[in-house]
Amino acid sequence: MPAVIVLGAQWGDEGKGKATDQLGQHTDLVVKFNGGNNAGHTVVIDGEKYALHLLPAGILSEGVTPVIGNGVVVDLDVLFEELAEITERGVDCSRLRISSNAHIIPPYNRLMDQANERARGNNLIGTTGRGIGPTYADKMNRIGLRIQDLFHPEELRAKVEAALAPKNTIFEAVDIPTLDPNEVSDHLLSFADRIKPMVCDVSLVVNDALDRGDTVLFEGGQATMLDIDHGTYPFVTSSNPTAGGACTGTGVGPTRIDSVVGVVKAYTTRVGEGPFPTELLDDMGERLRTEGGEYGVTTGRPRRCGWHDAVVTRYAARVNGLTDLVMTKLDVLTGHETIPVCVAYDIDGTVTQEMPLTQSGFHHAVPVYEELPGWSEDISEVRNFADLPQAAQDYVLRIEELARCRISAIGVGPGREATISRHSLIG
Ligand code: GDP
Ligand code: IMO
Ligand code: MG
Repeated sequence: MPAVIVLGAQWGDEGKGKATDQLGQHTDLVVKFNGGNNAGHTVVIDGEKYALHLLPAGILSEGVTPVIGNGVVVDLDVLFEELAEITERGVDCSRLRISSNAHIIPPYNRLMDQANERARGNNLIGTTGRGIGPTYADKMNRIGLRIQDLFHPEELRAKVEAALAPKNTIFEAVDIPTLDPNEVSDHLLSFADRIKPMVCDVSLVVNDALDRGDTVLFEGGQATMLDIDHGTYPFVTSSNPTAGGACTGTGVGPTRIDSVVGVVKAYTTRVGEGPFPTELLDDMGERLRTEGGEYGVTTGRPRRCGWHDAVVTRYAARVNGLTDLVMTKLDVLTGHETIPVCVAYDIDGTVTQEMPLTQSGFHHAVPVYEELPGWSEDISEVRNFADLPQAAQDYVLRIEELARCRISAIGVGPGREATISRHSLIG
């Protein structure tokens, strides 16, 4: 299975970092295709915790070439901070490759993110404040800065000046200090020499690797329900974390992809604003948050928690063409007498198993639950599916049935080793 996409099938933080890290051990290239340092991926190796934002989680596996694709937006300050941090911990980062076409998050877009959120007032999105949305907006508006611009200083300066002028006007209006275009350009250009050896044509690098028969893992940030096209718009991020994004975000054709793996939690979480039908606003939500350690890796915000929403998982299986699911955090559900799973939505009296046609319908969706029996045994040391308590097996099998996609691996703890494998994800 030489080309595998790993992506989030809910609202993010499903445990993609752990899944990528695990598969990365059997992989030659790990390619990040969307998003930027809005992502927060936790990887735990031998009890040691790594939090990665911009770098692909595969960077932690020896022998892997980590790659940042053209679909990613790169904050140069964060890139070099994260590289320094990981290098200090003994990880060899010298193989990192970055697309010349990837867009740069300039400092003014962090401020624009703030300005936009302020302007939204009560309708704010609850972004990570990293400048993601404004940078993708500049890209679409064709006023973005790309990594390759760092090697043409005069052009970069002209682009910064043109893009920053209207933004400074907005900053003035909302009492955010304006920025000097020359200072911004000097700052960005100060990274040029350091980044140059990493810059490449990612499409060529990845396609060549596939031609050689190398295994390539495409690592998605964010998730299906945060997708700009397929998520809960406008409460989404500004990229395509869905499977198609792996192709557009790297320059690899869809015919080259062999499998698409969606990662889901055994329950559901969400960070930031927006609809979340199975959200628990009571003590049970608090219990999931505490027992699951549900606090954001990037912003530290408490995550909103709720039961597993199989309508969402089934939808994710459809829009991504999932071949496999990885279910994480089954261990967190230990100790409940029964566990509700959302099997359909009741929307103003009409019951449906499909994603509502309109966003307004989704806001009205009331979950229809099926109560499944729980289990009380500690499952964190289990490594074979058959050794799970029957109720835990049945829980997995029922969600598999509802999602119409096989669940090939199950997480029972944060560590690399804490996984039950049912079907090989990399053949
Ligand atoms: P990502 O953004 O999808 O990579 O996920 P995050 O790293 O933001 O959040 C997932 C959290 O769950 C991290 O703290 C992981 O260490 C942890 N985690 C992943 N898989 C499991 C699992 O199977 N069980 C438990 N208990 N924790 C897990
Ligand atoms: P990983 O890769 C969870 C959410 C933000 C906000 C919305 C838009 O760790 O799963 P943005 O800064 O992207 O414009 O914010 O998307 N969000 C995430 N939520 N996990 C993430 O990444 C997220 N990246 C963005 O909370 O609601
Ligand atoms: Mg995360």
